[in-house]
This record gives sequence, structure tokens and C-alpha cells, in this order.
Amino acid sequence: MPIETTASVVAEVPDDAEFLAVPYASDLIPAHAVDLHLPVGDLLAHYEAKGEAGEIVEVPVARAGGVGRVLLYGVGDGSPRALRKAGAALTRRAKGRDTLTVVPPEGDIAAFAEAALLAAYSFKIGNAGQQSVRALAFAGSDEAQVRRAQTVAQAVALARDLSNTPASVKNPAWLAERAAESGVPVRIWDEEQLQADGFGGILAVGRGSASPPRLIQLSYTPAEPTGRHVVLVGKGITFDSGGLSLKPTDNMKTQKTDMAGGAVVIAVLGVLAALGAPVRVTGLVAAAENMPSGTAQRPSDVIKHYGGRTVEVLNTDAEGRLVLADALAYADAVLDPDVVVDIATLTGAISVALGRSVGAVYASDDVLAKQLLDAGEAGDDRLWRMPLIEDYTPALESSIADLANVEIGSKFGAGSITAALFLREFAGRRPWAHLDIAGVGRSTVDEGTLSKGATGFGVRVLLEWLTRS
Ligand code: BES
Ligand code: MN
Ligand code: ZN
Repeated sequence: MPIETTASVVAEVPDDAEFLAVPYASDLIPAHAVDLHLPVGDLLAHYEAKGEAGEIVEVPVARAGGVGRVLLYGVGDGSPRALRKAGAALTRRAKGRDTLTVVPPEGDIAAFAEAALLAAYSFKIGNAGQQSVRALAFAGSDEAQVRRAQTVAQAVALARDLSNTPASVKNPAWLAERAAESGVPVRIWDEEQLQADGFGGILAVGRGSASPPRLIQLSYTPAEPTGRHVVLVGKGITFDSGGLSLKPTDNMKTQKTDMAGGAVVIAVLGVLAALGAPVRVTGLVAAAENMPSGTAQRPSDVIKHYGGRTVEVLNTDAEGRLVLADALAYADAVLDPDVVVDIATLTGAISVALGRSVGAVYASDDVLAKQLLDAGEAGDDRLWRMPLIEDYTPALESSIADLANVEIGSKFGAGSITAALFLREFAGRRPWAHLDIAGVGRSTVDEGTLSKGATGFGVRVLLEWLTRS
């Protein structure tokens, strides 16, 4: 469900605001001149407030109808990261309330408002839990910044919703229908068309499922195109059981979010117009359900990808790279992009390397890598650059096909790196980057801007990047 909390801008703080948030900095002096008729300095000292981001001192105040509340909130060093923490903490404190009037902090209001909205996100089927605050009213803020924050937060919420939807509902055709609702033109390949055009990787992965695969293409053209063309490719595995290389239950039960990369692509394409992105963007979502059955592909099968390259499938659970290979090869052969970025919950190995807070970026091009790292930092989707280690390329040699989809044995290891090396074979010679979001695609905590389940990681970094370039 989209974020239901509304965000608006009000010119002034109403005198009788029932629920009012006011920032203070580390010197314990209110950062804003709002006359609260309160001994603010004494109160902060009394509660031993330090002014850290996320800290809130709640003060009951007399109001016409009874008792109101003033929330004195710390802003730390005032950096975007600190303001995000402060914004999210406020929304969480305001759970179940009607309107929270917010005197904004100095600094990046878009980051602050975006985090405040994201903290209101929840995914529910049924009536579990408490309602989020109904409305946030930002006093004296720049309207455009708050609108941008709202657009970005709703895009993240859409990516989370698509990913959190159970796979009993969300098959490849369903995902294609959601893409068609994004407001940009789409082209959908069904099974027959995939066959006719030679998308052997997507077909092989989808073969075991009763719900056939799809390739989804979304196209955004800016009002005044710069001539630059970006292709985004998302992994759209609507459920990853592992296929005949079946996963154990504990690993399988999180795999409805294995289309998180595809969800990011759909969500991003849907808001590029609202954010005025100057570049042409084509999104590709390679959607399939990876299931074991009498029609499933087998470990040892050899498949033929778009463009003719053959791959020996030694593990059907390394399916993401097979569907992405087709889409990358198609982008290179047909779409003539200036740059290609793929995003995928590709390997469990990356969460061993980078954990649950930082995503991986691999890149064939240093400039592109730097742009994505910077955009990630600014957008709060933190990335770390991983190396494409040439010495490991023999890991994917096959004796009967052009490539194998996994290493046999563990001479090389480095599961996330070898997966990236596999993808590189299909990306052509264009500047290409690969985001492995398997570690950051899901959250185990309901905290700050995160809610349990899908995170929508990737939406903010890509929107930052695409609206700058
Ligand atoms: N979808 C998984 C990766 C994954 C794991 C995402 C955990 C989110 C959480 C992917 O398709 C997969 O199964 N990868 C295998 C690759 C292996 C067979 C080479 C893995 O990581 O174990
Ligand atoms: Mn898998
Ligand atoms: Zn997968």
C-alpha cells in the first residue's frame, strides 16, 4: 500500500498546534525562533538531552481542548544523514496521531521529509498494527522540496509493495500488468514472443512454473531529450525456489522478494517525468518464476541466450544471471544505450561481504562507478564498489558450452564477484554497472526509514543519479 501519511506545507506554525515538533541543535538552543512559552533550555537539561539525531524530548503543553504535546527533536550535526534519522524518529513517535506540525531543521529538507514519509510505510494484509500519523505539516518549508520528497518516498513505497506482495498473487504476468500502470509506454514479451526472439535464458528459468515468464520493457522520454540513453535492467524472479537445485525452507521463504531489482526499475520509470529527469531511460524487467517440476530445466542442461551464446546450467538456483544475460544482450544488440545498469538480488555471498546496510556496485567504468557511489551517498542507498577480479574468470569455463552458470568446486569462491563476471560477458563494451542488492533488498528490522521485508533499495540511488545526469 502506498504511504498514507500526507505531507503539506503550511506558512506558519498555528498557535494552538496540538502536536508540534521543534528542532534543537547540540548546544541545546532551539534552532528556530518559535515562541513555545516553555523553558526549553531547562527542559532539555532536565532530560539530559544531547541533541543527537533521533533523540526526542516530549513535553505536555496546555491546549484549548486539553493537553497537547511539543516534541523537541535533536538534529545532530545537521547533515542529511542526521536529518533523515531525525525525520524518521518523529514519524515513528507520532504513530496513531492526526496531524504533526513540524518546524523543519536547517539544511536538506527533502532528505528530512523523505525519511519522515518512509518511516510511515507499512505493508499489511489485514488490520495488524497501529496506523501511522495521518498528516505531516511542514511549517515554512520549500514546497518543491517537500513535493520531491513525497514523489521519491512513494516510488520507494511502490517498490516495497511490489516486492512484499506474496508470490501467490505476483506472477510474471501480474508484474507486467503493474508495469503497464506506471504511466510510461510498455512492451511485453509473452512466452511465444520470447521464443520467437530467442530469449533462451528467461524461457529456461520460467519452464518449471505454471505461470509463464515475461520480458517487460518500459520507456521514458524526457520533454527535452539530451540525447543520452540509459538502460536499467532488473531481475524479476517472482519466486525463487531454486528450481530443481531446490533451496531449503529457511532460505526459500524470503524469495518472494527476488524481483526487488525489477520492482526498483518499475518504480523508477514511473516517477522520472514527475522529477524532470533529462535523460532517456529504458527499463527492462526479466520476469520468471523459478520452480521445480516435470518441465523444469535440469542441472546439466545447455541453454542458448539472446544473441546465441550457450551456457551450461550446473545449478538451477543461479537463475538470476540467466534471465539478466538475455536482457543485457538484448539491450546491447538492439537498444544502443550510452550506459547500462542492472540491479538484482543476485547472490547470498554479497551479504557475507557487505552485510545488510550497504549494497554492492560493480562497474566496467570508473566514472560511472563514482557517479553511482556519490548518488548512493546522497540518496541514502549506500554502496560500496566491488572489484571485477580478472583472475577469477576461469571459474565460469564450461567444457561443452561457451560458459557455465556457476563454478564447479571452490577453487575461486567469491560468489558475488563471479556472478558479476558472468553478467559482464553479456553487457557488451558499453559502460556497465551491476548492483547486487541481495543483502540490502530486505530488512529484518522495523526501524528508522526501514520496515520489515522489502526495502526498495536502489530507487533512491537511481533517481539521484538519473535526475543529476
Ligand atoms: N535469489 C538468490 C540470491 C539471494 C539469496 C537473494 C538470499 C536474497 C537473499 C539467487 O538466485 C541465488 O539463489 N543465488 C545462489 C547462487 C549460487 C547457486 C551460485 C546463492 O547465492 O546461493
Ligand atoms: Mn536462486
Ligand atoms: Zn534468485
